[in-house]
Amino acid sequence: MCGIVGYIGEKQAFPILIEGLKKLEYRGYDSAGVALVKDQGELNVYKTTGKVANLETLVDGKDIEGHVGIAHTRWATHGEPSVKNAHPHVSMDGNIAIVHNGIIENYQVLKQQLVDRGYMFNSTTDTEVLCQLIDYYYNNNGSNLLSAVCSALNDVIGAYAIVVTEKKNPHHLVAARQSSPLVVGVGKDKKEFFIASDATPIVEHTDKVVYLDDGQIADISINNGLHIVNHSNKQCQFDIKTVDMDISKLSKGGFDHFMLKEIYEQPNCLRDAMSGRLIANAEHPENNRIVLSALRDYRDRLVNARNIIILGCGTSWHAGLIGKQLIESMCRKRVSVEYASEFRYNNPVVDKDDVVIAISQSGETADTLAAIQLAKQHGALIFGIVNAVGSSIARETDTGIYLHVGPEIGVASTKAFTGQVAMLTLFALALGHETGTLSDSEYHKIIGELALIPTKMEKELEVTEKIANLAKMFTYAHNFLYLGRGFNYPVALEGALKLKEISYIHAEGYPAAEMKHGPIALVDQDMPIVFIATHHKLYEKIISNMQEVKSRKGRILAIVTEGDEHVREIADNVIEIPKTENCLVPLLSVVPLQILAYYVAVDKGLNVDMPRNLAKSVTVE
Ligand code: M6R
Repeated sequence: MCGIVGYIGEKQAFPILIEGLKKLEYRGYDSAGVALVKDQGELNVYKTTGKVANLETLVDGKDIEGHVGIAHTRWATHGEPSVKNAHPHVSMDGNIAIVHNGIIENYQVLKQQLVDRGYMFNSTTDTEVLCQLIDYYYNNNGSNLLSAVCSALNDVIGAYAIVVTEKKNPHHLVAARQSSPLVVGVGKDKKEFFIASDATPIVEHTDKVVYLDDGQIADISINNGLHIVNHSNKQCQFDIKTVDMDISKLSKGGFDHFMLKEIYEQPNCLRDAMSGRLIANAEHPENNRIVLSALRDYRDRLVNARNIIILGCGTSWHAGLIGKQLIESMCRKRVSVEYASEFRYNNPVVDKDDVVIAISQSGETADTLAAIQLAKQHGALIFGIVNAVGSSIARETDTGIYLHVGPEIGVASTKAFTGQVAMLTLFALALGHETGTLSDSEYHKIIGELALIPTKMEKELEVTEKIANLAKMFTYAHNFLYLGRGFNYPVALEGALKLKEISYIHAEGYPAAEMKHGPIALVDQDMPIVFIATHHKLYEKIISNMQEVKSRKGRILAIVTEGDEHVREIADNVIEIPKTENCLVPLLSVVPLQILAYYVAVDKGLNVDMPRNLAKSVTVE
């Protein structure tokens, strides 16, 4: 959470910083700020509440000169969103400016020590404490910014990505990382450098990047280039990597919102994600197969895994619940799905014979990262299902599968979810076949059907307008229930999460049969209930649940298999989805729920891509 950008080089920093902030706004958007250092040693800081656009308006007509600068878009942790709490924070003597993403856990102790030394504070943030602490060491330790940052970070407990600048030495930036991501872009001839929370603001300037590791501090100056040290100020070796990112994927491409664009991208995203991994031949299904290098490289540990533990948060956790059903049914292995935030503190039972599957779109979720580090200490094999290439989680895993669905900008996850489910399906198919628990005929049949999913999704997207019209009827609602069984139970959870995230309507997902154990008390004529009632062995039972709701006057919207006649007689509205294998249904049944949530939020006039209080990348615990 929070987006950081820094620039040092021959160009004017401000336009680079502001464009960079816009690309990182998904990480937080309650306030924004920039600090620019002029060559002659003048520091100008501008801060505002709200979005980056407000910052642009604020600086209109002001002095934005400077070849060095740092900028920030905030997701508040300590202190309300306000100009005072916005970053950059500046030291009491006005020399040092800092932007920070993360949480300094011992900031109160450090603050008291600084108060005792005569420091005063403008804000209620932990970041300002770090700024004054750096200033303290700077003024008492030979006025060297790098040494001052090293000393200050040795006092700090917590998570941070920081970029620090000073006006006394105006051609200099120091950046550091601990549990919060930070990337350094290396420009042409190593004459300019870009720093950002992820590579998206950097790729339009350079494809050469260095991913900082935990405990590393980058010292960057125009004259001496980039050096990386540890907290003891000892040099570290580093690799410059080349990133491959399609910049066109970072624009809305004619859609009103990133979320809608990402919903529509799903068929092609799945084609990309499965390309080279799923080999299907309709004429010779006996040749259908899954090719996963991770499975080849770690075959024995995967085949012999005692337990499989799936870790994730939010939508990724929902994908994990589908993964559990896929792996248990195809591989006959015991699978548990854990919230990473609970797992990391619950003294979990995990050992070297276990495989941990870590699912994360961003690859930066602090709880998931900490949970896999714990599992690693116990010797488990860590298998990542991650979208962001080169992200912290991707680098922490032993092996895995990238989603390859492209950057997801909308805060509400859509294409990453279907990508995760598709990758879990490939994993379960390949492992089940390898272990011999999945018959050849099932293996070939499901692969053949999976290959058709992108085209079936395209068909689903043809009824978007119908769902948009239905959505208008639901803007009044204060509560929603989403009910499903089997593979559609996690879809119910995901549908409810989508709606509450962006429309602020309270929504809960339940296994349909659980309804009568409590939630049915909520049902009345004002309560919309979404049933995901596709054809499977529990179809008749879910129809009974529907009858129970109907007799209490609940308003039913049902997602059904195309051609369904029975549900139509009970439900107020139905949305048909194409027929497929039961284990693949989530890939199709989630799409109308994404569209529904999107249009309810749009009809309520809400900011779909940047819903209140949320951030795309949850880098604090
Ligand atoms: O980047 P991750 O997949 O690790 O993120 C996990 C959750 O924070 C994320 O899925 C969140 O729930 C989304 N906003 C859901 O739409």
